[in-house]
Amino acid sequence: MGENLDFNFSANTVIVVGGTSGINLGVAKNFADAGARLGVISRSQGKVESAVEFLGQSGGEVLGSIADVRNYDQVTEGLQHFADQFGAFDVLVSGAAGNFPARANDMSPNGFAAVVNIDLLGTFHVLKAAYPHLRKPGGSIINISAPQAFIPMILQSHVCAAKAGVDMITRTFAMEWGGEGIRVNSIVPGPIQDTEGMKRLAPTPELLNSVVESVPLKRLGQSSDIGRMAMFLASPLADYVTGTVIPVDGGWSLGGVSGLMDELSKEMEKH
Ligand code: NAP
Ligand code: COA
Repeated sequence: MGENLDFNFSANTVIVVGGTSGINLGVAKNFADAGARLGVISRSQGKVESAVEFLGQSGGEVLGSIADVRNYDQVTEGLQHFADQFGAFDVLVSGAAGNFPARANDMSPNGFAAVVNIDLLGTFHVLKAAYPHLRKPGGSIINISAPQAFIPMILQSHVCAAKAGVDMITRTFAMEWGGEGIRVNSIVPGPIQDTEGMKRLAPTPELLNSVVESVPLKRLGQSSDIGRMAMFLASPLADYVTGTVIPVDGGWSLGGVSGLMDELSKEMEKH
C-alpha cells in the first residue's frame, strides 16, 4: 500500500483554510496526491502563490485566495471564488492558527485576542461562510485542533482557551448539521517536525530533543501523519464518525506535554 493508502479523491473538491504552510499544506498535499481539486486560503499573497504552485505539481486543479480568517467578508469572498470555479465542497479543512509562548501577565488583551480571533472566531467564520457551499449530504469538515484544547499548559492560556473552543465548535456543529449529512471532526496533531508551531514551542535543539523523549512513540510526527487521518475522516470509511476529537500525536497527550512547558518556561527566563 502506498503513502496515500490508495485513497482516491479525484471526484472531490477539498478546501484547506490556512493551507499554505506547515501541517495544513502537508494535508493539502496528501489530498492533491490523491487526485482532489484544491482550494487554499491564507493572508500572505506570496505563501498562497507558492502553495498553489507546489500543490499543482500533483497534477490537479488548484486555486488560491487571500483572506484573514478574522475578517468574515474576506473569508466569504475567498470561499465564493472556489465555489464559482469548483461547485460544492466535499471536504473543508479549517486550520489557520496563531501561537506564541507568553504568560498571561506578559500578554496584552490584544495579544490574547489575536490568537482567540484567529483560532476560534476564525473557525466559526470559516465553517459558517462555507456552509452554503458544503455538499449535503456528504460534506466532511475537519478542524485542526491542538493538545492545548484539553491539556492546560503554562505560556498557552490564549491557545488553550481558543482550541478548547474549536473542539466545542466541532461537537456543536456536528449536532446542528448532522441532519443534513455534514460531518464535523477535529484532529489534534502532536508535535510535528519542521513546523512553525514547533519552532515557537521548542526553539532550541535541547527542547526539541525533550519533546521527542516525551512522546511515547519516540519520534516527532510528519504532516503526512495528519494528512492520512484527514483522508480517513473525509472518506466513506468514516461515514458514521462525527463530533469526534482525534489525537494523532504518537501518544504525546497521554502525559508528556506539561513537562516540556516547564522546560520552555526556564528557557524563556534565560533571555
Ligand atoms: P503554520 O505553518 O504557521 O500554519 C498556519 C497557517 O495558517 C499558514 O498557512 C498561515 O498562512 C495561516 N494563517 C495564520 N493566520 C491566519 C489568518 N489570520 N488568516 C488566514 N490564514 C492564517 O503552522 P503549523 O505549525 O503548521 O500549524 C498548523 C495547524 O496545526 C494550526 O492549527 C496549529 O494550531 C496546529 N497544530 C500544530 C502543531 C505543530 O506541531 N506545529 C501541533 C498541534 C497543532 P499566512 O501566514 O499566509 O496567513
Ligand atoms: N508575547 C506577548 N505578546 C505577543 C507576542 C509574544 N511573543 N507576540 C505577539 N504578541 C502580541 C503583540 O504585542 C500584539 O499585542 P499589542 O498590540 O497589545 O502589542 C498582539 O499580540 C498582536 O500582534 P500582531 O503582531 O499585531 O498580530 P498579527 O495579527 O500580525 O499576528 C500572531 C498574529 C501574533 C499570532 C502572529 O504570531 C502570527 O501571525 N502567527 C501565525 C503563524 C503561527 O503562529 N504559526 C503557529 C501556528 S500553531
